[in-house]
Amino acid sequence: MWTNSANSSHPSRSDALLRVHVPVLVEEVTSLLCTGSGGTFVDGTLGLGGHTEAIMERCVPDHMFCFEWDRATLELARERLHPWKDKIEFFHGSFTTIPEALESRNIKGIRGILLDIGLSSFLIEESGRGFSFQRKEPLDMRMDTRRSTTARDLVNELPQEQLKEILINYGEERWAHRIAQFIVERRRQAPIETSAELADLVASAIPRRFHPRRLHPATRTFQALRIAVNQELENLKSALDSLPSCLEPGGRLAIISFHSLEDRLVKRAFMDDPRLKRITKRPVTASQEEIEANPRARSAKLRVAERIWAPSPE
Ligand SMILES: C[S@@+](CC[C@H](N)C(=O)[O-])C[C@H]1O[C@@H](n2cnc3c(N)ncnc32)[C@H](O)[C@@H]1O
Repeated sequence: MWTNSANSSHPSRSDALLRVHVPVLVEEVTSLLCTGSGGTFVDGTLGLGGHTEAIMERCVPDHMFCFEWDRATLELARERLHPWKDKIEFFHGSFTTIPEALESRNIKGIRGILLDIGLSSFLIEESGRGFSFQRKEPLDMRMDTRRSTTARDLVNELPQEQLKEILINYGEERWAHRIAQFIVERRRQAPIETSAELADLVASAIPRRFHPRRLHPATRTFQALRIAVNQELENLKSALDSLPSCLEPGGRLAIISFHSLEDRLVKRAFMDDPRLKRITKRPVTASQEEIEANPRARSAKLRVAERIWAPSPE
């Protein structure tokens, strides 16, 4: 479905890792984002570079700016995107810094910006930072390890009421009160150090008959903590506010989100922002075929909006 840029006939470790993360909705992203060849594009969440590779092949931009928070991920993507090294500039930083990075290079009028927000399978499976409740890893959850606060800090230091608020606001967890109470009781004996410890504790806080059938009982808790550690909703709000002004008239902003909290923000901003017109009235979702090949695509929602032409002066 997608080509791997490494041409060697002997797959390396990075080849294998690049295959771990299959980008979602690639056809849909490129067909909605590529409005003609040339121009400047931005990938605000480079990940392992799957979408950027597709954009380089199909949109054939003159320049591409790629942002990624996680250093190891960025280096793997750089390797993958080597064939386009003269056209791509990489930034180890948040997509919230896109406007200032463009401004400092005096770059105006971007043709297409993509944000594919959330976690990559690489971070879950390879980073060792406790993103998964299925592993015993230090409870870290920072996508950018230069940030100071970890999930361990939140779980062991926040007052019970604040923990509960995080679980409600970022996880929509109906057992937030009990989970926060169990966490505070447990940490009185010893700090909670690993993802496995937290996952077991959350499972024990929710009465067994209320465990979701298809999800691990700690899924919402892990989502909530990850969002809080990385300030994901604040970052998305900041991007929705600043990125439309970076686009050229007719330029497009495409955002793929993976849970309803994010999708709600994107939907509202695309409806209300006078700089934008919606290209997708409803979110684009993955086909059954894609979901079967890549289960992560199940919850992906793509919305695209276009910068409107400035009204001509009277
Ligand atoms: C779902 S993956 C992107 C996958 C990518 N589209 C691909 O095809 O490989 C999301 C990536 O965005 C990064 N990320 C999340 N929030 C970010 C932010 N605020 N700034 C920069 N990168 C971010 C994560 O580290 C992760 O690697």
